[in-house]
Amino acid sequence: MTEAVDDIMKDKLALLADNWQRAEAGGGTARIEKQHKSGKLTARERIELLLDAGSFVELDAFVVHQCRDFGMEEQRILGDGVITGHGLVDGRPIFVFAQDFTVFGGSLSGAYARKICKIMDLAMENGAPVVGLNDSGGARIQEGVMSLGGYADIFLRNTLASGVVPQISAVMGPCAGGAVYSPAITDFIAMVENTSYMFVTGPDVIKTVTHEEVDKESLGGAATHNKKSGVAHFSTPDEPTCLALIRELLSFMPSNNVEEAPIQPCDDAWDRATDELLTQVPANANKPYDIRTVIKAVADSRNFLEVQDGFAPNIVVGFIRLEGRSIGVIANQPGHLAGCLDINASIKGARFVRFCDAFNIPLLTLVDVPGFLPGTQQEWGGIIKHGAKLLYAFAEATVPKVTLITRKAYGGAYDVMNSKHIRADLNLAWPTAEIAVMGAEGAVNIIFRRELKDAEDPVSKRAELVADYERTFNNPYKAAELGYIDRVIHPGATRRELVSAFRMLRNKRATNPPRKHGNIPL
Ligand code: HXC
Repeated sequence: MTEAVDDIMKDKLALLADNWQRAEAGGGTARIEKQHKSGKLTARERIELLLDAGSFVELDAFVVHQCRDFGMEEQRILGDGVITGHGLVDGRPIFVFAQDFTVFGGSLSGAYARKICKIMDLAMENGAPVVGLNDSGGARIQEGVMSLGGYADIFLRNTLASGVVPQISAVMGPCAGGAVYSPAITDFIAMVENTSYMFVTGPDVIKTVTHEEVDKESLGGAATHNKKSGVAHFSTPDEPTCLALIRELLSFMPSNNVEEAPIQPCDDAWDRATDELLTQVPANANKPYDIRTVIKAVADSRNFLEVQDGFAPNIVVGFIRLEGRSIGVIANQPGHLAGCLDINASIKGARFVRFCDAFNIPLLTLVDVPGFLPGTQQEWGGIIKHGAKLLYAFAEATVPKVTLITRKAYGGAYDVMNSKHIRADLNLAWPTAEIAVMGAEGAVNIIFRRELKDAEDPVSKRAELVADYERTFNNPYKAAELGYIDRVIHPGATRRELVSAFRMLRNKRATNPPRKHGNIPL
């Protein structure tokens, strides 16, 4: 009896092992070799690098497509071109799907879409992030509308998961046509240089319709989407770097919108002096400097994960930790366009602020802004509605919000950059802060036009008026008199001031009025 059971069990185990072997073989040795030759890893190798060693649990490994057209019934590969499941990153659960280009070019079938939807549903039910590794020829042509429906099923889930669980996309090969809209809805897109591209219509269609000649790389490669379009958030030189970056990015965020980001051990003194800022930031407001100097000076161990560093460099966004706790930083960059806000900077800043607010990550805003960028290009491009996005994002955010004005805070940009008036909790300024409607030269030209015209010596009169204006407005004390600035601080004490500010706000509770949703100016 025992013998018979063993034999049956042996057969069953052999069948199971055979099935696993077939699933793991994907599209076969030749296609795997082709994948490696083109500088890409396989879907399974990518998952190995993404997750903690040995933690991957695969689901739906034996799923096959149901297509009976174009001879597809003869080609049924276990797993059907996408590997899905869950595993751990730094000990925390995440859900993952990896498109397998070796199976039908990673193209999406109905069955394949259902696999992705299943793990997205599990991620939502269990409050864990979803990471998608994209490498696909798009809709599986043989399946027609079933495939289109499958994409839409995924888009719906991306939308419903937005702001509930973090969603991160890596683009590690082709991602074209409507397929781009799934990564586009996710929170962050990381691309791999030279091997990935994203576009809605490819070079051939473009040539036919608009007669433009463009290659895949310049149309939708990593450089294009990180520098020109702003579609992507990270550009990485190779796949292992890309996957390591996603692990690091996840370390700054909670698993879902009702949790806090994990706290990391910190051996950097909370009250470490930041005296270097006294010399590294020029007191003369017209001299540029790199705001990242300030960000790194205050951050735990000087560690700053910058997001979208190639796009709209006049605003800098990214993650630091203070006392081991994750903080989202938004900072004007005087080293580029003098730190002016323009269309791209507003969009970049707004989306980052909304991500942090959705996932309970406190916000630190560093202000050194001469205003909005003037010009017809900006006005006709809609700077009014795009600038309003940043204003709206800061105003609606309910996480702890701390602002530090280092030098200029002029005009509407003063209000927009997380001012007291739009619910910042603590507004700090260095003694070098200048808070005014505009710079001294422009102001004097307008309010003293007649005096300057009538003056015997207009040059010295102007110098006198400018000096007077600067004495009155180019300092933080008018704002401090009104309580718009809570504390004027010594630059050397910036780290301790910020740490103590966020400590004070640790239990902050704030809400917005009940409503279906607001209507951010899109
Ligand atoms: C079925 C596909 C496929 C697809 C590739 N394959 N794309 N099978 N449906 N969409 C298969 C190929 O037949 C081939 O099979 C294998 O995958 C590898 O493809 P190759 O062409 O040999 O690879 P490569 O030279 O690297 O070129 C990759 C590619 C190209 C640029 C992605 O395959 C391609 O142009 N594919 C079609 C892309 C496309 O037009 N997709 C539909 C877009 S519209 P064998 O057996 O030879 O290995 C879309 C709409 C989405 O996606 C809508 C959402 C709303």
